[in-house]
Amino acid sequence: MTRHAGHPDPLSVGDTVILMDRKGRRFMFELEAGGDYHFHRGIVRHDDLIGQPEGCTVTSTMSAALTAVRPTTTDWTLKAPRGAQVVYPKDQAMVVTLGDVVPGAVVVEAGAGSGALTCALLRAVGSEGRVISFERREEHADVARANVTRRMGGQPGNWELRVGDLADGLADLRCDRLVLDMLEPWAHLDAAASAVHPGGLLIAYTPTITQVMRLREAMDADPRWGLTQTSETLLRTWHVDGLAVRPDHRMVAHTAFLTTARRMVPPPPPEPVDADAVVADPGPRRLP
Ligand SMILES: C[S@@+](CC[C@H](N)C(=O)[O-])C[C@H]1O[C@@H](n2cnc3c(N)ncnc32)[C@H](O)[C@@H]1O
Repeated sequence: MTRHAGHPDPLSVGDTVILMDRKGRRFMFELEAGGDYHFHRGIVRHDDLIGQPEGCTVTSTMSAALTAVRPTTTDWTLKAPRGAQVVYPKDQAMVVTLGDVVPGAVVVEAGAGSGALTCALLRAVGSEGRVISFERREEHADVARANVTRRMGGQPGNWELRVGDLADGLADLRCDRLVLDMLEPWAHLDAAASAVHPGGLLIAYTPTITQVMRLREAMDADPRWGLTQTSETLLRTWHVDGLAVRPDHRMVAHTAFLTTARRMVPPPPPEPVDADAVVADPGPRRLP
């Protein structure tokens, strides 16, 4: 079981906790009876945390005061082990919102990478929905499996991780949403059109504008995709301290572009014209 941030139980064995020092540095680990957490300011005894309420303060063996909480999704995403670069929380939110990832939906995702977006998708579809994730690199699949299992409190029954290339399985699947976080999403448009139900959405997350251009060109040439939109999300945090209220000096200015498109049904081609049935134009009519 994973106790979420703000769960009424006190901090317990098996919980993941985040310790924050006075400078805002964060350290994440899992609580074990009798365990020790070593860091540059000494050792924190797990037993000093177990049984305490979230938000409590502990002191390390070198007298550093640290605040302990269970991680939010944002904390966890930024601190969890990584195989591949993760989708940041601001973009996870937009994938779920602009991609209309709703409870009960069947979602196909590639690649799973570190499993960060997978967790957001699993939460959005809920227990009635399903997520099928493809990951072609075995070592990334291992990280994704470990992270999803840890974050979701066990291997979710509605999640399937396929270790292999999306190209080998997509055309045989049917889904409501297809989420692509990979190098060449345009290479999968044909199979995607077979997989995504009419009216469903393809959501592509691509770091560079040249990828967006190739994807949009390929979509524009294929009448099975329409209502296409591309956006990026900038999140600027603020420094608020007395009268010193201003944007923070540093920000993650760029992550990736999000392109969404709906699966359309192209109109049938026009009827062929029967040349013999064409009546010669009689020209302008004259009044009698
Ligand atoms: C940037 S990572 C995905 C990160 C992930 N969305 C997350 O939030 O943790 C891209 C992943 O796509 C995988 N990948 C690329 N092309 C693929 C394909 N055709 N089929 C399956 N996986 C693919 C890569 O191995 C890599 O792990």
